[in-house]
Amino acid sequence: MTVAKIMSLKNREKIVMLTAYDYLTAKILDELKIDIILVGDTAGMVYAGYKNTLPITMDEMIYHARAVRRGAPGSFIIGDMPFLSYGTSIEESVRNAGRFLKEAKADAVKLEGGTALSQVISAIASVGIPVMGHIGLKPQSIHRFGHSIAGKNDSETEELIKDARAIEKAGAFAFVIEGTTEEAAREVTEKISIPAIGIGAGRYTDGQVLVITDMLGLDKDVNFKHNKKYADLYGIIKSSVSNYAGEVKSGIFPSEEQVFHRQ
Ligand code: KIV
Repeated sequence: MTVAKIMSLKNREKIVMLTAYDYLTAKILDELKIDIILVGDTAGMVYAGYKNTLPITMDEMIYHARAVRRGAPGSFIIGDMPFLSYGTSIEESVRNAGRFLKEAKADAVKLEGGTALSQVISAIASVGIPVMGHIGLKPQSIHRFGHSIAGKNDSETEELIKDARAIEKAGAFAFVIEGTTEEAAREVTEKISIPAIGIGAGRYTDGQVLVITDMLGLDKDVNFKHNKKYADLYGIIKSSVSNYAGEVKSGIFPSEEQVFHRQ
């Protein structure tokens, strides 16, 4: 997978993107040839247990991205730039974007923002780093805008189109559109020539992304409307661990099958 191939999929084939944060999960996604693996800053929530994505650091993101690259040597991997690793100055933004490529061998970076971030996107892209934008609901701006759905009326939809245009003009190769009405995401997708990857943005975007732990049902307390649980890992892990604990307590594990003997 390459940037050019991803861009060429628009209007031809849906793009599949999933997050991954660790070696073993990445290995499975690599085997399945998932189009794009996003090392999302959601790692801060689903791996580190922070309440939101703000606390995760650049060094922590590099740690996750390196693990994912080791598991998925052949995949297209995007490093998600964490809060305040960009936007403070152009120089710092470019340097941090470059760290994902230099230290983790990622293929591209993603950052949240539309029109306001176009100079940053343009500076990163101009040194040869492919950039994915992110518009609509922007979790890193939770304190400013909250978690409300965007594109509820004509003027909000116009804002989204403006943001997407700015990103495209700045040189982004694709963008995530999160938490919008289906109607707005459809209009944005149709009006912009780079691929729009949706999450909670309905059926008509060029592709879809989900947080892998959400779609695998690892957290029983996650019940987002936009998410579909394809498995119940919470239930599987809980009953397996409970069986193991019971078998250790009662002496069933280990059994003859698991022990070594002197010859
Ligand atoms: O960090 C993340 O997981 C993301 C996806 C929700 C798109 O940005």
